[in-house]
Amino acid sequence: MAELDYRSCFGAGQDVEVQKRMLSVPKIDNLDDLIRELREAFATEYVNIERVQDLMSAYNSNPRDWIKFAKFDPHRYTRNLVDEGNGKYNLMLLAWAEGQGSSIHDHANSHCFMKVLDGSLREVRFAWPSESEEEEEKEMQIIGQTTLKTNDVTYMNDSLGLHRVENPSHTQTAASLHLYSPPFESVLLFDQRTGHKTKGKCTFWSKYGVRTPFSAISAKLDAEDYENN
Ligand SMILES: [Fe+2]
Repeated sequence: MAELDYRSCFGAGQDVEVQKRMLSVPKIDNLDDLIRELREAFATEYVNIERVQDLMSAYNSNPRDWIKFAKFDPHRYTRNLVDEGNGKYNLMLLAWAEGQGSSIHDHANSHCFMKVLDGSLREVRFAWPSESEEEEEKEMQIIGQTTLKTNDVTYMNDSLGLHRVENPSHTQTAASLHLYSPPFESVLLFDQRTGHKTKGKCTFWSKYGVRTPFSAISAKLDAEDYENN
């Protein structure tokens, strides 16, 4: 993956390679355009990470497109399914009320793309705890921290470490669009203080704008932790 600052993609200046790449990106006027282009980008078996990032960057967030998916819960952030991408990925909107954040988690060997649709999100990355550290109960090591603003796009996978995402604002909500390929149903959750991990199931608060019935969610839950991720 090339080292690129996507916040400057459209004003890429002298970077000819970036200019060329961005020229090949179709015009994306709304979320439906983005969904269609993403499906096309995943038509083959090969995932072109830069292409997916470019497409997500080319969409200029408009709440009119996605407000029906943005279902907030006062107790925790929500995951709302937008598109199942022909089974190759899940595209979802995460709705973050003021101050809400995720646990530290992995990405189950999947690619993870994230675009901020509204507000800003803070991402804190951690190193994987070594097996011996897990036994020692050692504080997890922070390896990076970024604040992403509206329309910023970032990419994550397990080789880059673990992360926590949070809405740092106590006065504004936030929303973000996430693409996970291949789709997954559970992740590992980590305790920052000890490095201990547990398994967490991922569930949807809503699908295609319709609230998931509680019975459908609770039937999936067992002794494992439940995590919106
Ligand atoms: Fe994540």
